[in-house]
Amino acid sequence: MILNSILNKQYLNLNKMNLTLKIWRQKDASTKGQMVEYKVTEISEHMSFLEMMDVLNEQLVNSGDEPVAFDHDCREGICGMCSMYINGEAHGPDRGVTTCQLHMRMFKDGDTITIEPFRAAAFPVIKDLVVDRSSFERIQQAGGYISVNTSGNTQDANALPISKHDADEAMDAATCIGCGACVASCKNSSAMLFVGAKVSQYALLPQGQVEAADRVQNMVAQMDLEGFGNCTNTGACEIECPKGISLENIARMNRELMKASLK
Ligand code: SF4
Ligand code: FES
Repeated sequence: MILNSILNKQYLNLNKMNLTLKIWRQKDASTKGQMVEYKVTEISEHMSFLEMMDVLNEQLVNSGDEPVAFDHDCREGICGMCSMYINGEAHGPDRGVTTCQLHMRMFKDGDTITIEPFRAAAFPVIKDLVVDRSSFERIQQAGGYISVNTSGNTQDANALPISKHDADEAMDAATCIGCGACVASCKNSSAMLFVGAKVSQYALLPQGQVEAADRVQNMVAQMDLEGFGNCTNTGACEIECPKGISLENIARMNRELMKASLK
């Protein structure tokens, strides 16, 4: 009997929530924004946060109002697009997940949820919750690549021995999805965790050595040019990063920069 009631609740999806949402609305980059309050009802605890936002937008469209603009693409924690501040935390209250992977079971019936765009001078608001993160792309263009000979004499990657430790560390750094949560969580709006990860994924591999000095110097110069702040070792970036990128990558980037400047 008890088991039946538990199963019914789970499968019939009866754990529904009524929520109040306070959302940043901003028409465009040049218009002043403001928080606007909305109610959503019958939200299933099994929904993702973005599915809950879809319910709100359907409601807004049906009532003739403009839906809330927010970024998303893969909805499976890969693309890094779904960047927003939820109750004052980048990607919300859960650890190691992006907004699209955040489940509504993290909230309870009657909650008020505050939803804002990422705040940083280098991430200007485009509309509502959508910010312009092309500054990250320009940093990548400055050095986040390797050059490979494609003339037909390309060396087989497996012919280059790489220690398991270095391969694992490079792979960990490469899991950065460029979401910008590190910047949004940092009191200095520093992009050092992102740039540290992008520098590290090559610095640890033989393929990355040829352009190593130029890479770190150009990427750091572009980071400064874009207006990101400096790192003061607060560590908020590492805590809020959905991919668990370690602060060790910032230390490695600083070492790489020091090495490059001594050449
Ligand atoms: S370091 Fe983490 S928080 Fe920063 S952009 Fe990469 S994945 Fe996002
Ligand atoms: S939508 Fe791609 S990571 Fe969230």
